[in-house]
Amino acid sequence: MQIEHRPEDYPEIACDLLAYPVFEEETGDASLEFLNKTTRGALNAVLSSGEFKPELYSTCKIFKPAGLKARNLLLLGAGKKAQFEPSRLREIAGTALRSARQSAAKTLAFLCRGNHPAGLASRVAVEGALYANYEADIYKTRDKEQRDVATFLLLFERKMAQAEVKDGMRRGIILGDATNFARTLANEPSNILTPSQFAARALEMAERTGLYAKVMEREEMEKLGMNTLLAVSRGSDEPPKLIILQTHKDQAKKRAPLYALVGKGVTFDSGGISIKPSEKMEEMKGDMAGGAAVLGAMVALAQLRPRHPVIGLIPAVENLPSGKATKPGDVVKSYHGKTVEIINTDAEGRLILADAIAYARTMGATNIIDVATLTGACVIALGHVNAGMMGTDQKTIDRLRSNCRITGEGLWQLPLDEAYRKAIRSEIADVKNVGDRTAGAITAGKFLQEFVEDTPWVHLDIAGMDLDNDGHPYCCKGATGFGVRTLVNLLES
Ligand code: BES
Ligand code: ZN
Ligand code: ZN
Repeated sequence: MQIEHRPEDYPEIACDLLAYPVFEEETGDASLEFLNKTTRGALNAVLSSGEFKPELYSTCKIFKPAGLKARNLLLLGAGKKAQFEPSRLREIAGTALRSARQSAAKTLAFLCRGNHPAGLASRVAVEGALYANYEADIYKTRDKEQRDVATFLLLFERKMAQAEVKDGMRRGIILGDATNFARTLANEPSNILTPSQFAARALEMAERTGLYAKVMEREEMEKLGMNTLLAVSRGSDEPPKLIILQTHKDQAKKRAPLYALVGKGVTFDSGGISIKPSEKMEEMKGDMAGGAAVLGAMVALAQLRPRHPVIGLIPAVENLPSGKATKPGDVVKSYHGKTVEIINTDAEGRLILADAIAYARTMGATNIIDVATLTGACVIALGHVNAGMMGTDQKTIDRLRSNCRITGEGLWQLPLDEAYRKAIRSEIADVKNVGDRTAGAITAGKFLQEFVEDTPWVHLDIAGMDLDNDGHPYCCKGATGFGVRTLVNLLES
């Protein structure tokens, strides 16, 4: 998709569809009056007839409006002006684009309204447009949606500083593309996206974007004693891979802070010997969404060149049952040195993260953020609205929380009291990998905490957020790329 800023007034823009956001209770506004006058009363006609109510995401198309060079006009409900966060601007830009796709429009012009600074507005509008122009139907050989919008024109009501708009658009393109890249990975079926293929795509993308990448093989893991990671992959014929990414070549050990992003990369989670019920098991092809988010964020950061170096670690494995698989009750010694009693082989994410987190510490990480589709318990607690957030780095947690209004990715903090530790005490080893049925998202966090020691750390449990099965007006169903914008927003400055 071609993305451009056009400084002309919107009536002068020739395009297939011009999208114009309208706020609730905005009647009497000078901008609307101008639009109404220009279109010879078309706006007021649909408002007073009730054909268009400016509720969030609502749309109303006016064909061949008078006074505009645009072929058609799309009125876009933008909700209440006071609630018009940057995340809403992103969503309605996406809604406009989906609407353009539906009517096979090739050139969409979007008028950016609201009071956001030009750079931020340009960025989120472009992110929303790219997110919306994505389709997940790559394996269809017929009835494919071939309705990509070819040109997206960004317009403003007033003259905006060119440099700010340009820079915002550049960031929006980087973030939008990185998010869609993460979505593509998570949408891939597990027969295509094996751990090896995940690593291959990481290397290929790194090459293209100037990210430094290497892959650790099984042999090396065995030498280093990464036995909680290896325990998960034992049942599979697919070899495990540890994908190691760096934004800077020499992430100099002295240049603090050094953030490490660690993403769960289980390319398929059958549960292993503690096998899952078959209903919805296919969704477990997306159990590498945390890893995809880390890779997407690293790809974006490589292009945005943050001042401080960032490392990304993605342990990639497949969790299957077989004659070689790890069994409930097995004990292994982690890379960190602590021994783990594996009570449930379906609690595998925390096992691979334990070794990757410990490895991040040996690489000199001063701050760790892990992202994982870790527990069904988190979905029960927070649904599909917020990811669970917990950890020991309260400063970063607070920053992440306040960034939500920009990123649109919901995060809600859960507690990590010492009293929850009791649930994962083992009789025969240092720790066991599951607690009882209570506070499952938190006890998973407590397990990870065993391996971060005193390094400031945040854990994001994105189970429930990685997939959008309900459908929204601004995107197709499937993987969301959740976490890419959150991580990049935090680390780009
Ligand atoms: N990948 C799952 C968690 C999950 C569940 C993600 C639903 C997305 C949607 C994870 O590996 C898992 O199986 N967790 C178990 C932990 C339990 C055995 C303590 C769970 O949540 O049931
Ligand atoms: Zn599992
Ligand atoms: Zn899992």
